[in-house]
Amino acid sequence: MAVKYQFPQDFWWGSATSATQIEGTGEDDGKGRSIWDHWYGTEPNRFYQNIGPGVTSDFLNKYKEDVRLIRDIGHNTFRISFSWSRLIPGGTGEVNQKAVDFYDDLIDELLNHGIEPFVNLYHFDMPMALQEKGGWEARETVDAYEAYAKTAFKLFGDKVSKWFTFNEPIVPVEGGYLYDFHYPNKVDAKAAVQVAYNTAVASAKAVKAFHEMDGTDGKIGIILNLTPSYPRSRNPADLKASEAADLFFNRSFLDPSVLGSYPEKLKEIVKLHGLAPTAEPDDETLLRENTVDILGVNYYQPRRVKAKEHVPNPDGPFLPEWYFDAYVMPGRKMNEYRGWEIYEKGIYDILINLKENYGNIESFISENGMGVQNEERFIENGEIQDDYRIDFVKEHLKWVHRAHQEGANVRGYHMWTTMDNWSWSNAYKNRYGFISVDIETQKRTIKKSGRWIKAVSEAHGFDE
Ligand code: BG6
Repeated sequence: MAVKYQFPQDFWWGSATSATQIEGTGEDDGKGRSIWDHWYGTEPNRFYQNIGPGVTSDFLNKYKEDVRLIRDIGHNTFRISFSWSRLIPGGTGEVNQKAVDFYDDLIDELLNHGIEPFVNLYHFDMPMALQEKGGWEARETVDAYEAYAKTAFKLFGDKVSKWFTFNEPIVPVEGGYLYDFHYPNKVDAKAAVQVAYNTAVASAKAVKAFHEMDGTDGKIGIILNLTPSYPRSRNPADLKASEAADLFFNRSFLDPSVLGSYPEKLKEIVKLHGLAPTAEPDDETLLRENTVDILGVNYYQPRRVKAKEHVPNPDGPFLPEWYFDAYVMPGRKMNEYRGWEIYEKGIYDILINLKENYGNIESFISENGMGVQNEERFIENGEIQDDYRIDFVKEHLKWVHRAHQEGANVRGYHMWTTMDNWSWSNAYKNRYGFISVDIETQKRTIKKSGRWIKAVSEAHGFDE
């Protein structure tokens, strides 16, 4: 029987995870160190409650149980990422057979349960061996990443048909090179631009390699956190500020990945401040000819901006904020548990923008979700009553449905995240899962939202 918000029968229902956040580093599993292992080792106090990426949700040992739970909450798709430093501990060179066996068995397990794996190659986790040689600032890292991507395609290309080159590539640029919330904690716009550029080139190289591989009918994409930028008013100065924020935080990856070139205005700004990256002669052609097949859209909150009120100090380090100020809109709806604005229509605006300005590229919502602190307080009869999460997802899905009705080429919805996991420097502060995890005992319990999403995915929609 049809429901009011009916999605197509082949819609993808699932949730997303990343290697560092769920696997645990394991013992004797041959994994090399990533920047997260290193940073935690040197500055544990930068992590919430001093908790690092050591155990997380212990997926490395519990994946069989977890795949059954993923099936029990009705998913037909599930996103993982490969840990580069698990697969190739030194970043380049020798492949770790234990990692190959683990990922191979995990993929089989998913397929055997009717769940299609979506595999992302990079979720913030640079191998430390490469970081020591410059990380994304160094062109050699682009070559190393290309080799890693080719290795992954060769090993698993016959089983995996949805690949992604990067998750939220702007985040390591912001965190590592502008605002000091990721390693290597630099504040250096010139390096930031080089890192962003090298990442875009690396993505295009992986797309090229994938398309050139024999016998694949799979698709390759990129996952971007698109944060629609809304001006305080229609006043030209506010509009200009909003456009600048959009250029820096959205179009810096969206345009090269989907259209194959950078926006002229962004190039002008970068040049004006003497930040143009070092490029190689063939890069422009490479980017133009190797755009993605599919786009993952991560959406949590909008960005609201207003015209700059104070002239920035020209002697201080350049930041995108030279072009706009943040604007706190009166009356905005908040996720008080996390401190992020909730604006459901943003998801629709993104999808319509993709339809109108990005060739209506095939897309799906690859992350959307609600982080909540101290979620245990909502336990009743042994189950977390996360009605707030159900409402959050439902209200966003209504806008996804509307965009789809209006012709947007959106094919699925993944929530962040499957089971509660460790998050970058926030550790276990904000819980996001359909499934709760007791970090002491590693016991999993499906939340109310997990039961709800099962019903939604079985009906491919919902009534109210
Ligand atoms: C997303 C990232 O942007 O935000 C995830 O892709 C992350 O990896 C999530 O876990 C939530 O972040 P936080 O800081 O609320 O735990």
